[in-house]
Amino acid sequence: MAGNQITSFIFISSVLVYTHSADNIYSAEMPQTVTALTGSCVQIPCTFNISNFEDKRKRAKSIYGIWLKNKLQFADEDSFIAFNSSKNIIRGFSDIQMTGNLSERNCTTVFYNIMMNHSDRYYFRLEMEPKVFKGTFNPSTDVSRKNVKINVRDSPQPPELKPNDLKVMEETTVNLICSAEAPCPKQPPTISWSNIPESAHITTQLQEKPDKTQSVFSYMTFKASYKDHRRNISCTATYQRNTPDASTVETIVMLQVLFPPKETHVIITPSVGTNVTLTCKSRASPSNDLNYTWYKHGEETPIAWGMKINLTKTQNQIGSYCCIAQNKYGKQSSEEAQCTVKGK
Ligand SMILES: *[C@@H]1O[C@H](CO)[C@@H](O)[C@H](O)[C@H]1NC(C)=O
Ligand SMILES: *[C@@H]1O[C@H](CO)[C@@H](O)[C@H](O)[C@H]1NC(C)=O
Ligand SMILES: *[C@@H]1O[C@H](CO)[C@@H](O)[C@H](O)[C@H]1NC(C)=O
Ligand SMILES: *[C@@H]1O[C@H](CO)[C@@H](O)[C@H](O)[C@H]1NC(C)=O
Ligand SMILES: *[C@@H]1O[C@H](CO)[C@@H](O)[C@H](O)[C@H]1NC(C)=O
Ligand SMILES: *[C@@H]1O[C@H](CO)[C@@H](O)[C@H](O)[C@H]1NC(C)=O
Ligand SMILES: *[C@@H]1O[C@H](CO)[C@@H](O)[C@H](O)[C@H]1NC(C)=O
Ligand SMILES: *[C@@H]1O[C@H](CO)[C@@H](O)[C@H](O)[C@H]1NC(C)=O
Ligand SMILES: *[C@@H]1O[C@H](CO)[C@@H](O)[C@H](O)[C@H]1NC(C)=O
Repeated sequence: MAGNQITSFIFISSVLVYTHSADNIYSAEMPQTVTALTGSCVQIPCTFNISNFEDKRKRAKSIYGIWLKNKLQFADEDSFIAFNSSKNIIRGFSDIQMTGNLSERNCTTVFYNIMMNHSDRYYFRLEMEPKVFKGTFNPSTDVSRKNVKINVRDSPQPPELKPNDLKVMEETTVNLICSAEAPCPKQPPTISWSNIPESAHITTQLQEKPDKTQSVFSYMTFKASYKDHRRNISCTATYQRNTPDASTVETIVMLQVLFPPKETHVIITPSVGTNVTLTCKSRASPSNDLNYTWYKHGEETPIAWGMKINLTKTQNQIGSYCCIAQNKYGKQSSEEAQCTVKGK
């Protein structure tokens, strides 16, 4: 999988692993998916538990946390110990730090300066000396849950923008959420918005997800105006890392605002000549069901339907005209003054 860019973001199968043996029950919890970028770090949130932990902890003189790469059985000849907290043994990585406190059942670990060849499965192992407890937290019996997989990518994934189908009535309050994964919580991505509505209010924070990995969440709230119809709002995440690769990714959503006719007015063409065409102009959404009704001032019944009407400036057609535009959300009348057809 290393080298395959599509599948190479870090992912770690969400694991709640239990192992049953004669007098030991032990479990470890880690996220299912952690995404990591080359040139950045990745934090693996991790907690574990074993039966009678407090008792064992008191008996143990020392506790080591170990990460095994690829091999479940650390005793295998080709097993690869990536990290042993005892003497801070680190292999194949430039730095690894166990930031969790093992005495508090916390095995949270940060792997630094991630490279493509770090994509692999990793297993947590606990050793309490002398001869108190030794175990790798991945039972081979539990096929579905034994994989803790780190998968590295060269470029970040675009932020997630929700909802992605943004069709709202005007004047309603809209909440948009843009989130970008922060595999390296010390260097979270920055989020910026562009083409935002005037009334927008934005708050951004680093947040823990249910699987304990972190993401930067940016919340934008605004009141939808018909003027925002078809506005393309974009959210950009920028990742800091020690590589020259592009690390800015963007997601765009087009806002669709539903509203009754607005700015209804009449255009007269040509303004000189005997025959004129009156055109009823209006903004509405949706606009495909927009229809128009024409009235002559002083008359109660409509004189015509349709967007345009033709008039001859003969004596009996002198007067002022109005149109009413209508879609399924309402109607609006043009100003009478605008559509006065004056005679000679
Ligand atoms: C740890 O495991 C023991 C035994 O299974 C259990 O009694 C205890 O509540 C667990 N502790 C935590 C914090 O889960
Ligand atoms: C981790 O280091 C300690 C102390 O050096 C050693 O006793 C132990 O065997 C090591 N564990 C592994 C799995 O290599
Ligand atoms: C990954 O590659 C680097 C540089 O080529 C090397 O130093 C490191 O040992 C490799 N790590 C692993 C886990 O293979
Ligand atoms: C485990 O340790 C990490 C790093 O110090 C910390 O951020 C996290 O809150 C700890 N988790 C628990 C469950 O205490
Ligand atoms: C780890 O936790 C133990 C037990 O709560 C505490 O005594 C110890 O000081 C902690 N170690 C560190 C480095 O915080
Ligand atoms: C927003 O993007 C869509 C699709 O690319 C485009 O059709 C539309 O014209 C854009 N809206 C604006 C206001 O530019
Ligand atoms: C004006 O309209 C009348 C009636 O629709 C038509 O007979 C006449 O040809 C038109 N005049 C011009 C200049 O288009
Ligand atoms: C109005 O006049 C234009 C140009 O003379 C013509 O193309 C159009 O069909 C006429 N519309 C109506 C509704 O009569
Ligand atoms: C115009 O459209 C509305 C709803 O879109 C409909 O209720 C109304 O009957 C239509 N009027 C005409 C004259 O077609």
